[in-house]
Amino acid sequence: MGYRVVVAGATGNVGREMLNILAERQFPVDEVAALASRKSLGTEVSFGDKTLKTQDLDTFDFTGWDMALFAVGSSATKTYAPKAAAAGCVVIDNSSLYRYEPDIPLIVPEVNPDAIEAYSNRNIIANPNCSTAQMVVALKPLHDRARIKRVVVSTYQSVSGAGKEGIDELWDQTKGMYVPGQEVEPSKFQKQIAFNVIPHIDVFLDDGSTKEEWKMVAETKKIVDTSIKVTATCVRVPVFVGHSEAINIEFEDFLDEDEARDILREAPGIMVVDKREDGGYVTPVECVGDFATFISRIRQDSTIENGLNLWCVSDNLRKGAALNAVQIAELLGNRVLKKG
Ligand SMILES: NC(=O)c1ccc[n+]([C@@H]2O[C@H](COP(=O)([O-])OP(=O)(O)OC[C@H]3O[C@@H](n4cnc5c(N)ncnc54)[C@H](OP(=O)(O)O)[C@@H]3O)[C@@H](O)[C@H]2O)c1
Repeated sequence: MGYRVVVAGATGNVGREMLNILAERQFPVDEVAALASRKSLGTEVSFGDKTLKTQDLDTFDFTGWDMALFAVGSSATKTYAPKAAAAGCVVIDNSSLYRYEPDIPLIVPEVNPDAIEAYSNRNIIANPNCSTAQMVVALKPLHDRARIKRVVVSTYQSVSGAGKEGIDELWDQTKGMYVPGQEVEPSKFQKQIAFNVIPHIDVFLDDGSTKEEWKMVAETKKIVDTSIKVTATCVRVPVFVGHSEAINIEFEDFLDEDEARDILREAPGIMVVDKREDGGYVTPVECVGDFATFISRIRQDSTIENGLNLWCVSDNLRKGAALNAVQIAELLGNRVLKKG
């Protein structure tokens, strides 16, 4: 016997990847329901070699469904996730709505799987922000060995992190640069994204940082260790899929770069590609469609006592969203629901 699984947001970037990954990982399903807004009613989406017709989230009855993977944004989540949870269907949510609530577990299965036990507080589990998820997979094994004091991270985030509209804007604006009269003004992004970079993701906060940067700080503390200090600069770049991060780490204890490389090689979810030669590192286009978080450019930072630099790349629609959500579903199944 398998699970009855709902994917809400099935026509979106993350929802489509959720369906792909459930099929790829042969998640034990008896039935899958694909939901989106009313305007997408009947739209066909792929699930392995099957085609599912999209149903309307607004009228869907969650009774008798085991789990619902939500990727519909915070405002629709606010309306529909409590309905699903109240019907006994465990929600795994990709939006930021519930991530910071103390009684809601925020989980990256390679890092804090035991947090799953708290799912029953509200029948809701939160999935972290894309840039946090890939970073904490790399930080955790290093923290276990040498205790991280402080992290300085700069991100290079792809446009797919801003949904379907983000992808369309980069595509149309890039084409429009070459066709007189077809120029595309910024709309999803604050400035031109084609052939440009924008140091602004999500809203500005009072201290001059952005909400995206704040998320990396708050979520790293909640998932890995409240004692870790994080300072982030989050930047949108004209890449379709795949987030990159330059991460500088200060440890309490000395950690040699070779030992760090060995630790990361053994760590779950990580693939180390780190040759000190032309092309001996991973770039976003190479990580698309992969499950791993790739680590390259591991090297000592000699400007501080116990410092290390590394380069971290992952498919933001996978580890940053859909894959992590499916891994949480697997954890929930194996540890708690125990069907299949
Ligand atoms: N993209 C990433 O890297 C990433 C990473 C982590 C988390 N997330 C989060 O995942 C969520 C989805 O992101 P995305 O990139 O997949 O966005 P997207 O491509 O714009 O897709 C949004 C999906 O939500 C559905 N939806 C929106 N409002 C709805 C409503 N009121 N009722 C029913 N369905 C509704 C849309 O259905 P229609 O097609 O019918 O409009 C579509 O299926 C967001 O919360 C986002 O913050 C994204």
